[in-house]
Amino acid sequence: MPLAVRRIAHATPDYDTMVALRRAILRTPLGLDFTADQLTAEAGDVHLAAFAGDELIGTVVLTPYKEATFKLRQMAVADSHRGRAVGTQLLMAAEHTARGEGATRILLAARVTARDFYARHGYEVEGEAYIEVTLPHVTMSKVLKSSDAA
Ligand SMILES: CC(C)(COP(=O)(O)OP(=O)(O)OC[C@H]1O[C@@H](n2cnc3c(N)ncnc32)[C@H](O)[C@@H]1OP(=O)(O)O)[C@@H](O)C(=O)NCCC(=O)NCCS
Repeated sequence: MPLAVRRIAHATPDYDTMVALRRAILRTPLGLDFTADQLTAEAGDVHLAAFAGDELIGTVVLTPYKEATFKLRQMAVADSHRGRAVGTQLLMAAEHTARGEGATRILLAARVTARDFYARHGYEVEGEAYIEVTLPHVTMSKVLKSSDAA
């Protein structure tokens, strides 16, 4: 099934499907959920979704931060589609989109379990591990090359 990564507008049916996948992978297993305020605050974010045919199988969100930096959040791939480079393609699409929006750097809070995934794609750890949403995380960042531009 060919993979496509598309930009999704906030508060649309596809956005709701993204939130459902994010919730199932990143929040429900921790006994947590998004608040209405958190989702409302995402109106200015860039939402990218991976599709296998009509099925939405992966998500990533970019939040404008500061000094030409985007925060990359909510990277999640449906269990049954992992290990087939969907995450890699979402990450590349996010970097391409961020560069196209004028960003030169991406910052993220990586679950320690996903640290090697980001490291393989050029992200470097900054500082010590800390706890977020009950799990150990590390801050990671990457300077984007101009060849990543849209
Ligand atoms: C982290 C996550 C997004 C990665 O998504 P993914 O689609 O599995 O990522 P990729 O397939 O691009 O790469 C992951 C692995 O598959 C391998 N891989 C890449 N392309 C592959 C291919 N064509 N065939 C087989 N394996 C492949 C990679 O070497 C990598 O190996 P690793 O497991 O040692 O890291 C996914 O595992 C996930 O959703 N995890 C749960 C939520 C989470 O932790 N999110 C990150 C929060 S910071």
